[in-house]
Amino acid sequence: MDLPSLNEHDGHVKLSPLQGASDPGPSIANWLFRVSDGRQRSSLRVLDVGCGRGDTVAWLVEQGFDALGIDVRADYVANGRDYLGPDRLAVLEGEVYPFPDDHFDIVISDQVFEHVADLAQLAKEVARTTKPGGVGLHVFPAKWIWTEPHLRAPAVHWLPKGRLRRGAIKLALATGRTAPYFTEWTLAERTRIFSDYSEHETFYRRPAEIRRVLEAAGLSVNLRDASRQRVLFKLGYPGLPAPLIRLAAWMYRNTRVMYLTTSKASE
Ligand SMILES: C[S@@+](CC[C@H](N)C(=O)[O-])C[C@H]1O[C@@H](n2cnc3c(N)ncnc32)[C@H](O)[C@@H]1O
Repeated sequence: MDLPSLNEHDGHVKLSPLQGASDPGPSIANWLFRVSDGRQRSSLRVLDVGCGRGDTVAWLVEQGFDALGIDVRADYVANGRDYLGPDRLAVLEGEVYPFPDDHFDIVISDQVFEHVADLAQLAKEVARTTKPGGVGLHVFPAKWIWTEPHLRAPAVHWLPKGRLRRGAIKLALATGRTAPYFTEWTLAERTRIFSDYSEHETFYRRPAEIRRVLEAAGLSVNLRDASRQRVLFKLGYPGLPAPLIRLAAWMYRNTRVMYLTTSKASE
């Protein structure tokens, strides 16, 4: 029997037309304002990789940036085009982005790396289309986050793909410890819907592996600074001793969300 994808659950916003901009949260916004400080925003080309229907692209345009988005899902992109016009969002067909070399000042992605099977290809295209001296911010859930954020099931993504993970997902579903999607389906069917998504649409990696892949594409990588800023923002910039802040930032980026920044060397 054909089962739906987990993405098709009720209330999934990308399946409906974009109605307005959504800000990407204070940490991404603050980083963008910091790196663009003192520069004319309209002269800065920003690419949002994995833009979905373009909620963040719409916000970037509102903030004055020259923003574009790209996504593999044509249906999501179509849902943004009435609001944003035909030229702001591109569908990624094949492997190569439809943008020239050295085109973007800033490349961001939000909740995308964990969905990308071929991270080396993404890194190659991000590196190619970033201008020399350009920068990037990539935000994604940590491999060791306790609750897998799409299934909302505890720790199932820590297990190897295959029987063991499917068993853990089944147990989480049977005990009500998942997102409440597709509750009208049988346990076996829900197990398949959740497991297929986990297996084919999520790819959690260790920070060191992500760093290696991005560096191999020619980008410099910083795993620490933006996560530290995020933690300081969350804690309200307390006057804590530096080692405690370092520990909190390490825990945050390894067990919650990674804020990773990149830069491409100036020529
Ligand atoms: C969880 S959504 C995040 C969307 C958006 N960034 C946001 O924060 O709302 C992940 C997005 O990444 C897209 N995606 C997955 N693999 C991709 C790839 N290799 N290149 C570009 N987009 C990709 C998906 O289609 C999806 O729209």
